[in-house]
Amino acid sequence: MNKETWTQVDGYLASRLMTDDPVLAAALAANKAADLPAIDVSPLQGKFLHLLASLQGARRLLEIGTLGGYSTIWLARALPKDGVLVTLEAEERHAQVAKANLTRAGFDKNVQIRVGKALETLPQLADESKEPFDFVFIDADKENTAAYFSWAVKLTRPGSVIVVDNVVRTGEVANLQTEDPRVQGMQRFIEAVKKEPRVSATGLQTVGMKGYDGFVIMRVIS
Ligand code: SAH
Ligand code: DHB
Ligand code: MG
Repeated sequence: MNKETWTQVDGYLASRLMTDDPVLAAALAANKAADLPAIDVSPLQGKFLHLLASLQGARRLLEIGTLGGYSTIWLARALPKDGVLVTLEAEERHAQVAKANLTRAGFDKNVQIRVGKALETLPQLADESKEPFDFVFIDADKENTAAYFSWAVKLTRPGSVIVVDNVVRTGEVANLQTEDPRVQGMQRFIEAVKKEPRVSATGLQTVGMKGYDGFVIMRVIS
């Protein structure tokens, strides 16, 4: 089994289970035109996030790591009309591309992009003491994932869902000798989950057009 097979299967499944989506295609084209890295979630993964958020009935969503807003559009599509999504992005340039993509997708009212390092914008969000978030998607700089997880727990309520991307990294996550700081970041995050009695968590390995990686999916239980 190799990436070519996984990519073929992604294509097969997407061609049968998903419909043509000019809005998402335009977002990917705009990302490419702006030279953003092609590290968005895959179409099938985007729909997976969308389904999770819909199943959960999320009305308030938080995303850490916007890039061009591809995953943001998938998540925002799970919201009711008056739902809210806050997405955090460090790079002004990424945020501008995302804003245009989200406007084209019809989410200029529901989605708020906050530009700045998430470790600075998260405390600001907490200070605003709005209602808790129902769903959090963590997908930014991997080194800080444990800190983002800790904020996610603070900003949610029992019943909320937290999903973390890129946990497995071609299997490196199980290599306790790894010197890759991004993988070490994910290992610190996993250890933090182990010590956090307020969440119930699982890990899900994935293969596909993006290679071999995986998610951690959690429910806040208390
Ligand atoms: N969720 C997107 C992909 C995000 S890529 C999708 O699937 O479509 C990761 C993003 O996190 C990049 O845009 C990067 O600029 C941003 N990022 C990196 N460090 C960050 C930080 N400290 N705070 C906020 N965003 C950050
Ligand atoms: C990278 C980041 C991501 O969020 C992702 O899904 C894939 C790759 C990266 O930084 O390489
Ligand atoms: Mg990712």
